[in-house]
Amino acid sequence: MEITINKTQNPKAKPDMSNLPFGKYFSDHMFIMDYDEGKGWHDPRIVPYGPIELDPSAMVFHYAQEVFEGLKAYKSSDGHVRLFRPDKNFARLNVSNERLAIPQIDEALCLEGLKKLVELDKEWIPEQEGTSLYIRPFIIATDPFLGVKPSESYKFMIICSPSGLYYPEGLAPVKIYVEDSYVRAVRGGTGFTKTGGNYAGSIRAQVVAHEKGYSQVLWLDGVEQKYIEEVGSMNIFFKINGEVVTPALNGSILSGITRMSTIELLKSWGVPVSERKISIQEVSDAYDNGTLEECFGTGTAAIISPVGELSWDDKVMLINDNKIGEITQRIFDTITNIQTGKEEDKMGWVLKV
Ligand code: COI
Repeated sequence: MEITINKTQNPKAKPDMSNLPFGKYFSDHMFIMDYDEGKGWHDPRIVPYGPIELDPSAMVFHYAQEVFEGLKAYKSSDGHVRLFRPDKNFARLNVSNERLAIPQIDEALCLEGLKKLVELDKEWIPEQEGTSLYIRPFIIATDPFLGVKPSESYKFMIICSPSGLYYPEGLAPVKIYVEDSYVRAVRGGTGFTKTGGNYAGSIRAQVVAHEKGYSQVLWLDGVEQKYIEEVGSMNIFFKINGEVVTPALNGSILSGITRMSTIELLKSWGVPVSERKISIQEVSDAYDNGTLEECFGTGTAAIISPVGELSWDDKVMLINDNKIGEITQRIFDTITNIQTGKEEDKMGWVLKV
């Protein structure tokens, strides 16, 4: 299928690239492709960025049949655009599609569309330390219909946002609150997918956490509320007694690409790492006996984010003196250096456009 390009006649003024918030500004173009029953995905095209028209009864507004992804582009010193493991994002989008009864996309075609889009909008890739072009592919159900069933039409889009850090704290450790009343995901639910509903259901708990002075909440399992799952904006890792531990993927945790990259890096360095069930009690016990050495989150937007304070019930666990730990710093440095091209990409993770 040919991807057509309609360039904007009115390029927008760029924001101050040295002082970028996360996800607020958008580049000049976007990628769109439509799906109609009987026709499949069709008309892949790059067009000027702008509002789209949808019927008020479009199914996405009512039953949230939608999926999304998040990845980043960087510009290396030789002017090349660098995408970090984009194939993994499109593969994961299809996993989410399957769960949300959305038709599968052609991953190679979408990657081609993304490459053309970032090439066209490469002037929008910020170069300041800590910034990137955050890329948001997503699919929405567009049928004008109020019955609950899979839509027969969809829109796949990719938009790009020159962005700064997700957490204003940067590499300063964040404070996290263990959520033990609300749950994010349940067995057999959609926790492993990137779908808006997972995030909508988490906002209330986040509001409460913010009111208490915390950045995010740490979710426990939806059955016993004993086992650690994820933060919502990131997966979570602990270093306990020399071993790095992260909750195993169990169907209710997102299979993060930064999570996967972190595990692969640790293995390549010979650092013991395990994916297993880990209870909040185990973390609390490790804190009490002095073996809770580090805690950090991983995510595309969050990159690697040290956790300096974990609060559970009335207990406040101050981790590594509220300073970034040695292994957390090493993973952060290695991943960001590979992403930006400052370090050789021995893992073969970067796609140069
Ligand atoms: C990402 O890290 O790309 C996400 O989609 C998480 C979101 C909370 C920004």
